Amino acid sequence: MHIPPLGLGTFRLQGQQVIESVSNGLAAGYRHIDTAQIYGNEADIGTAIAECGIARSELFVTTKIWTDNMAAGKLIGSLEESLQKLGLEQVDLTLLHWPSPGNAVPVAESMNALMEARERGLTRLIGISNFTVAQMREAAAAVGAASIATNQVEIHPFLQNRKLVDAAREMGIHLTAYMPLAYGKVMQDPVMLDIAARHGATPAQVALAWLLQQGHAVIPSSTKSANLQANLKALDLRLTENDIARIRTLDSNARIANPDFAPDWDA
Ligand SMILES: NC(=O)c1ccc[n+]([C@@H]2O[C@H](COP(=O)([O-])OP(=O)(O)OC[C@H]3O[C@@H](n4cnc5c(N)ncnc54)[C@H](OP(=O)(O)O)[C@@H]3O)[C@@H](O)[C@H]2O)c1
Repeated sequence: MHIPPLGLGTFRLQGQQVIESVSNGLAAGYRHIDTAQIYGNEADIGTAIAECGIARSELFVTTKIWTDNMAAGKLIGSLEESLQKLGLEQVDLTLLHWPSPGNAVPVAESMNALMEARERGLTRLIGISNFTVAQMREAAAAVGAASIATNQVEIHPFLQNRKLVDAAREMGIHLTAYMPLAYGKVMQDPVMLDIAARHGATPAQVALAWLLQQGHAVIPSSTKSANLQANLKALDLRLTENDIARIRTLDSNARIANPDFAPDWDA
């Protein structure tokens, strides 16, 4: 029931570009692919999966339910549509992409619909994304923390999300760090560059290793084969206590994904 720690993000990537990114990623050794209904690329990812020649049992595919589909009467039908696009009978993980804007659909209603989807075999695991500490507690109260395979949230050196990280650890809820490279910003940071140079590594590898060492899964994206391959090597990098202390100083609450319907974030 394990989430492979290093996955492949696919946000913004469409058509041939996402087919190539996923195909190159799978050839390089990625086995975990992260998509979402709203990305509009599930069918393209389905094409890449169908063509890859890797056994389904070796792949871990995540999709996310968009906010329009969170009501009990809609969630399962929308997941069935995602499965059809992906060409799969079951995804490995289904997340609520965001807390329902304005709490229009109660958390418990969507979480119970996810539980039903899991019981029907449409998804192996269920989880949440962009949930705050309070919302994470609400989801856990509805279905039990043990049923929540992950909370996928933005975490990178410039948004370390410590309150949420501590609360999730206390509740036994695993986290997946999205935008782990701060959408490219880590590559320009002098501290990240210096730590990378000391290890003969890249700042991207340092950012990913920093997250992996905390026990989080990471899902960086790239359109370039060389970057995809290099990012995988983060699994072999071990940061020192001093590196970690230096990265800690970079936290500046610099959130990137912050749409107008976002929840009231934990400071
Ligand atoms: N749950 C949510 O609400 C949510 C929100 C946002 C994102 N996500 C997920 O998280 C994934 C990752 O986030 P993201 O794609 O926005 O940002 P990201 O992974 O932090 O950064 C991707 C950017 O970094 C560049 N890059 C990657 N590896 C590199 C390397 N080794 N050297 C130099 N540049 C490198 C890529 O450019 P190149 O293409 O040129 O390599 C791309 O511009 C998404 O794809 C999506 O699956 C989830």
